[in-house]
Parts: sequence; structure tokens; C-alpha cells
Amino acid sequence: MAVSRRSFVATLGAGASGLIASPLITWRGHEALFAFQGTTERRADRLLASKPGMVRIDSNENPNGPGQHVFDTIMKHFVDANRYPTKSEDDLIQVLAKVHDLKPENFILGCGSGELLRAAVQAFTTPTRGLVSPEPTFESPANFARFINHPVVSPKVDSKLALDLNAMVDAARNAGLVYFCNPNNPTASVHGASDVASYVDQVMKASPEAVVLIDEAYHEYVADPSYATAIPIALSNPRVVVTRTFSKVFGMAGMRAGYAVGQPDTLKKMQSWLLGSNVNQLALAAATMTVADKAHIAEEVRKNREARAFTRKFFENAGYTVHAADANFFMVDVHRDAKEFKMECVKQKVAIGRQFPAVPTYARISIGTMPEMKKAVAVFHSVLTNQVSTSNGGKH
Ligand SMILES: Cc1ncc(COP(=O)(O)O)c(C=O)c1O
Repeated sequence: MAVSRRSFVATLGAGASGLIASPLITWRGHEALFAFQGTTERRADRLLASKPGMVRIDSNENPNGPGQHVFDTIMKHFVDANRYPTKSEDDLIQVLAKVHDLKPENFILGCGSGELLRAAVQAFTTPTRGLVSPEPTFESPANFARFINHPVVSPKVDSKLALDLNAMVDAARNAGLVYFCNPNNPTASVHGASDVASYVDQVMKASPEAVVLIDEAYHEYVADPSYATAIPIALSNPRVVVTRTFSKVFGMAGMRAGYAVGQPDTLKKMQSWLLGSNVNQLALAAATMTVADKAHIAEEVRKNREARAFTRKFFENAGYTVHAADANFFMVDVHRDAKEFKMECVKQKVAIGRQFPAVPTYARISIGTMPEMKKAVAVFHSVLTNQVSTSNGGKH
């Protein structure tokens, strides 16, 4: 039967979600879709944090933003907004090659590193070779693997919240991809260079096909002298990739830019899952301007350390444990349901990180500016010294 455009549109209007979304959802499975959307809880959390007057220390962003020099660059490049950004992609890749002393073919760009993580899951996992993603870690790769019905194995972190590398070697047998976040979000734990190298060696032997993706989103913040970037490993091993982002120390989470580093053939497998020109003209210009700015990075790291030390000291003086803090956030055991703790803080206009089910009494605190952390610490003090009812009805 012929359907006119008008009647087609009218039919859509009457029940568009039923007609279009429902076969899609059935195919993907409701549960997977919700899990992938993440998502819904994280989105709700971010919307909550963006309410007026809120101290936003929930998403490991840089409270200072990218700085005046980046703003000026963006304004200057606005005249290019009508052009596809091919030349600007090349410019950023050239600068990255220079900063890292590598070749342009060792880089691909992402709409945030999040897009690259997703591409790696697509490229390297299958319905029989799944993903290893510890618990807790940044959930986006695992959510996406579940969404496409690829298996996920999640070894739990150890009692000090460090990744359990032995369990992660076992889990990697027959895996397609291991997600190794270093420093790990949300635990802020760091693994030293020799641990990472030995982990990769063991996975190479135990699992003939697995690729290891090392996510260095928080690389610049690490002070631990045993730590080093895994980029040299990625260059020498076709089964290792490193990702970086402009969302953290560079203060550009809203601009959406990241990159992956590795051997060209490995990156090509990921690239086929990326949208062409996935980073917009202005984000490219901003990233190109800021990535080599060592003084700016050092200043952001310094500010973060100062506010982080102040915040950590408050918790430790009050008798709460912080195992690691080598990032622009840390986790603290608040000895109560972390979600309830968060909601109590939100009532007083401080939005901290969401609860991570594997460590339900640990709150993740991102580090804001010093004035923000002073306000936040006063709120933490008030919440912690008031009795908070727990989900099982008891009182602490
Ligand atoms: C460890 C880690 N990797 C990747 C991302 C994704 O960041 P983006 O897509 O903004 O680069 C995040 C975001 O918080 C993260 O914590």
C-alpha cells in the first residue's frame, strides 16, 4: 500500500516510539540498552550537578577550564566553523607527534577518549572473546560491550582499591580486550611502570589474541615515581593501545577531544568504527593550542595537588581512609552508603561522584578549586557529624 508523506508523518506522530523504537529495543534488549545508557544514572547525576549554585565535584572535570589563551584561539578559529575540519585534524596530529616525539601515523583522534574506548570494544571483542573490565573502573567500555552482547569479566579491586593484576591476568584468558585504567577511575590507584609491563607480558602469553588498552586519562596528575606512561609499550607491541583525553588536566571536557596512541595497524582497526571528522573544528584548534603548553599543565597540576591535599587531610584527620589520590579525585570510605552521603551533600549544594556498587561505602570526590573545596569540606563535616540513616534502616 502506498503511503503518502503526510500519512507517514501522521502515523509517526501517533505512535512514533512504538513504531520505531520498539523493534530496536527488542533487538538490543531493554536491559542492555539501559545499561549502555549508563548511563541514565550518570546523566541524572550530571544534571543534578549542573543545577545553579552547586559545587560540581562529581565528574573529575577541571574546575578552571582551559584558560584565556584557549578561549582566544577558539574565537580566532570561529571563522572556520563553516569548513570541514580535515586540515585542523592534521594540524593536531602533527603537534601530538611533536609533543610525543612520534610519527603522525601513531595517533588517531576521538570525540573525547570515550569514543576511542568504544571503538576498541567494537574492534577487539567478539561474542566469544569478551572484555576484561575491573570493578570498579570507568564503566563506559563495559556498558558498551554489554550493549553489543559481548561478554564482560570484572575482577574486583583488592582491599586497598588497587587493580588485582593477578586476577586480571586470569580473566584475560580468551579475552578480546583488557581495559586497564591507570590511574584508575574511580579509585585513583596507580600501577608502576614495571607492574604494567609485566602485566602486559603475562597477558601476551596467557591470551594469544587479547589487546590491552591502557587508559591514561589522568596521566598528568600522577606523582608516584614508579609510574610512567605505557606509550613506549604501545609502540613496540601491536596488541597494546594507550588513550589520552583533553577533558581532564586540559579543562576541555565540554569540547570533546581525545586521542589514541599505538602502532598504525592496530589503530586502523579502531578507526573503522569512528565517525569521520569526529572532532569539531573549534575543539581541534583548542587542543592544538593547549597540548604543548607545559606551563599551563604544570599550573593545573599544582592547583589540583594543593586543593586535593587540603581535602584529603580533612578526611584523614577525621579518621576516614583514603587509599590513593594520584589524580584529580580520590575515594574515601565514608562508612555509610555512599549514595545517601552524596544526597545529603547535594542538599547542601555540593555534588560529589555517584556510588560505585563494588565499593558501596566509598565516596568519590573530584577536586575543585580551593574555595570550592573549602565549602565542600564544611559540608562533608556537617554531613559526617550528623547521623545518616542507612539503606537497611540502621543508624551510624
Ligand atoms: C578513565 C576515563 N577514561 C575516559 C573518560 C572519558 O573521557 P572523555 O570522553 O571526556 O575523554 C573518562 C571520563 O571521565 C575517564 O574517567
